Amino acid sequence: MSLESSPFLLACRRQPAPHTPVWLMRQAGRYMPEYRELRTRHSILEIIGAPELAVEVTLQPVNAFPVDAAIIFSDILPLLRGMGLSLEFVAGDGPRIGNPVRSPADVDRLAVPPAEENVASTLEAVRLASAELTPRGVPLIGFAGAPFTLACYAIEGGGSRQFETAKAFMYEHPAAWGRLMRKLSTLVADSLMAQARAGASALQLFDSWAGVLSAADYERYVGPYMTSVCETVAATGVPLISFSTGTGGYLGTVAAAGGDVIGVDWRVPLDVAWQQVGDRAIMGNLDPVLLKAPWRELRAQADDVLDRAAGRPGHIFNLGHGVLQHTPPENVRRLVEHVRTRSARAVVA
Ligand code: CP3
Repeated sequence: MSLESSPFLLACRRQPAPHTPVWLMRQAGRYMPEYRELRTRHSILEIIGAPELAVEVTLQPVNAFPVDAAIIFSDILPLLRGMGLSLEFVAGDGPRIGNPVRSPADVDRLAVPPAEENVASTLEAVRLASAELTPRGVPLIGFAGAPFTLACYAIEGGGSRQFETAKAFMYEHPAAWGRLMRKLSTLVADSLMAQARAGASALQLFDSWAGVLSAADYERYVGPYMTSVCETVAATGVPLISFSTGTGGYLGTVAAAGGDVIGVDWRVPLDVAWQQVGDRAIMGNLDPVLLKAPWRELRAQADDVLDRAAGRPGHIFNLGHGVLQHTPPENVRRLVEHVRTRSARAVVA
């Protein structure tokens, strides 16, 4: 089967597919025993920095479950290191940036190296993984953090509930905020285009924290940079997924900024989200916690997502955010198999 006729790429282009394609954000990771085993010997940054290890982890969920797409194993934050920010993952505490951006002068010190230098190991992993996956008919997704979510980490220096340091910087230094977002947009677009050249069949922007903003602030402080990234990346011809969480109140604004597929979280019913998004493919949106619920509840809510999509071309089944730690792998397998079986349909060519 050629990649272009894979259910996932058909859905990205809003063409009818033989079943609703399904893959899960964070489908590779700590809930998988294979991943935990590798992590006893290597840190996450070591895995990301060693293309053959990154490929191994990328393939783990593809080998374990009949998912319709793979996502290259990396993280959104290593991109920041090339700017001059130090990154570590502290066990139990998440990412830490030792020298966060706290002033306009800090912004002006940030470098903007080319992707070939900055994320060389991930580009090599994309080359190797796509060579393995293409004969198997499985498309590979490349990704980057969206400029806003990256700015949140760059300024805050780590995870946060509200990213209030980052938002306060945005309001206090709007011009420096613009310069930071422009630098990040250049890095992000360059990384996505390089991943497409290296063999990625689709690309995704993760704007995990966009929902901390009001609609008006999203439009003013984020939208123009998303549009610039989406327009630049469109030149590759590779479909782009724009994923965000907490943006159910202004999905129309998010969709207006760009992207071929709009990824939505579980807080908004899929049919309502689709109405806001308009003529675009949609990805989502099961609550990841349901993978820890009894099968009757998991199945009922997965069916509800499928019913709300109602077989319209252009639905990619996914969670509304990443797979959680301690998720039973068996539930992932059951969900993926169920979505494929229940959505199977005759496609008239
Ligand atoms: O399978 C995949 O989806 C690809 C791999 C992937 C990872 N991170 C691996 C990872 C992807 C697409 C990401 C994206 C990412 N990373 C996002 C956006 C999506 C989201 O979940 O919101 C964000 C915000 C990050 C930043 C990040 N990376 C955090 C906050 C953490 C620590 C919290 C946690 O879950 O542990 C990470 C670490 C990380 N990235 C892990 C994995 C598998 C777990 C760390 C480990 O192995 O010890």
